[in-house]
Amino acid sequence: TALTDFKIVANASPMPEAERLKAFENLGFGTLFTDHMAVVHWHVDKGWHGAEVSARKPFQVDPAASVLHYAQEIFEGMKAYKGADGRITLFRPEENARRFNRSAERMAMPDVPEELFLKAVEELVKIDAKWVPEGEGSLYLRPFMFASEAFLGVRPSREYVFCVIASPVGPYFKGGSKPVTLWVSEHYTRAAPGGTGAAKCGGNYAASLLAQKEASSRGCDQVVFLDAAEHKWIEELGGMNVFFVMDDGTVVTPPLSGTILPGITRNSIIKLAGDNGLKVIERPYSFDEWMADARSGRLREAFACGTAAVVAAIGTVRHPGGEFVIGNAGTGIETEKLRTQLTGIQRGSVADTHGWVKDV
Ligand code: PLP
Ligand code: COI
Repeated sequence: TALTDFKIVANASPMPEAERLKAFENLGFGTLFTDHMAVVHWHVDKGWHGAEVSARKPFQVDPAASVLHYAQEIFEGMKAYKGADGRITLFRPEENARRFNRSAERMAMPDVPEELFLKAVEELVKIDAKWVPEGEGSLYLRPFMFASEAFLGVRPSREYVFCVIASPVGPYFKGGSKPVTLWVSEHYTRAAPGGTGAAKCGGNYAASLLAQKEASSRGCDQVVFLDAAEHKWIEELGGMNVFFVMDDGTVVTPPLSGTILPGITRNSIIKLAGDNGLKVIERPYSFDEWMADARSGRLREAFACGTAAVVAAIGTVRHPGGEFVIGNAGTGIETEKLRTQLTGIQRGSVADTHGWVKDV
């Protein structure tokens, strides 16, 4: 059988229809899961094998599995959408496959062939198609890979599990599409030059939790990380990239310096903003500039973006020295326009001129 031929075993006791529909009435983020999962194994002597889609269930993991000790783990985040016409689509899924392999390379893990990654995602979406919500919700897909060899020496594992799970989701933020409040971390940084900042590895998120907790304790939705070397330049949020819209029609976003995640939403927004006649400049932008530009009114809008968060306006920024608001602390015109364009393309109501949308 070909590498990408998945054995399909339907879940014998799927969630009853009424229970699923009830759960759909109030979708949050990441708490509800579908009936199935896709799993593929890798062994140093066998390569990828045993591709299967079957009932979602716990793994058996040896207590010495290296992921539990040295955190050799990577993941992706993508969504399946159901358009008004019932069509189910993915947004630029091959970009997730490519980023996954860049993360794998950084973490000394095996390459997952792009067609295997995509097939795993598509087979799962197909078998769990009824789990893709209509309307505003979407099916969040979480491909991930972890080191499963039972061995305590510090070297790359000789065995891995690649898996995809799926979760019907609503808005990432409790406030829905209301502008978010950010906390600028004083003590903590996310990633240093030469580190793993550009990789989507679990360890980056573990390291961000204390800063995120600090943000929550200050009443903020997300933490903003400044660079590790000078603690001066804005990098990104715990789980999103950032953009700044100026009064002269320029849009600034931090460059892909190796310490931030190269967001697929970020890349798409850069293209859409260009389509809208805005001039996008990828350049370092400091916290001091941010505060000064917000105060002077030169900065009109700011927003965060990512698969989970979509496009979220930034209303208020808190920092150890005080706080400032952006514009009138609402959602700016360009932010709203970009959000409408992006979500419209994803759901098939806006023309997909860049060829980003893929039918499942
Ligand atoms: N930055 C971080 C740290 C993230 O976790 C994410 C989410 O995946 C992003 C940025 C945005 O990336 P994308 O737009 O590909 O979802
Ligand atoms: C995503 O947007 O997919 C992420 O991984 C962000 C995370 C905070 C859920």
